[in-house]
Amino acid sequence: MANSLTVENVDAAYGAVRVLEGVSLRVGGGETVVLLGTNGNGKSTLMKCVMGIVRPRSGRITAEIDGATHELVGRTTEQIVDLGIALVPEGRRLFPRLTVEENLLLGAFRPKARATLKSNLAFCFECFPRLAERRRQLAGSMSGGEQQMLALGRALMLDPRIILIDEPSVGLAPILVSRTIDKIKELKDRFQLTVLMAEQNFPQALRIADRGYVIVHGQIAFEGRSSDELNNNELIRKFYLGL
Ligand SMILES: Nc1ncnc2c1ncn2[C@@H]1O[C@H](COP(=O)(O)OP(=O)(O)OP(=O)(O)O)[C@@H](O)[C@H]1O
Ligand SMILES: [Mg+2]
Repeated sequence: MANSLTVENVDAAYGAVRVLEGVSLRVGGGETVVLLGTNGNGKSTLMKCVMGIVRPRSGRITAEIDGATHELVGRTTEQIVDLGIALVPEGRRLFPRLTVEENLLLGAFRPKARATLKSNLAFCFECFPRLAERRRQLAGSMSGGEQQMLALGRALMLDPRIILIDEPSVGLAPILVSRTIDKIKELKDRFQLTVLMAEQNFPQALRIADRGYVIVHGQIAFEGRSSDELNNNELIRKFYLGL
């Protein structure tokens, strides 16, 4: 069943500062769509709007999940998570003084996910053998790459249909960035997830993207209908890929 996300004409602001202006984008069922942009251009704000953490000033956000359409604006974050939409937040936001396993178990707070907690945990450990090996280690003492895997694993504990991943590459060494990106692709294929990923590492993001958007000063500056279109765009090559 197709699970998709549609953002239409969203405006958002922090007080008097407008951060998103007329943003529209779509993530179709089973697609990996990237939201590309450098620091401070509104990527996280858009993800927070989808998750009900920031309330848009105007515009619509709808999700189609297992055949039903839901309007997201006005719902609480818990309600949105409960529909099957999970966020892997920027900076991971783990509980550093809890163990790997405790962090994963806390991920499964969605009532529907609680029923399948044991099998989801086993599945997480199968997807991330390193987390199984380190299940009793404190999350805060894991390496950056391991913490990113844990943040992804925690989101999977919600048994989501749509997953938003905010800058998975941040703070990771280049080899770990490419491993993390590969893992996201693997998880997406395996769980048949619909993925919206924010990144400023354009080359890495474009490796797994089906399509994407470039956000500049809170506006969609360019829409690439394929990863080739993004890779071959003159401005992207010049300003973001350094080619
Ligand atoms: N809580 C807040 N209060 C006021 N301004 C904010 C708040 N959060 C973000 N902003 C501002 O909104 C703008 C967009 O921020 P946002 O975090 O969405 O960007 P981003 O594209 O995710 O950047 P980065 O790549 O650095 O994470 C920035 O100018 C930022 O300073
Ligand atoms: Mg951000």
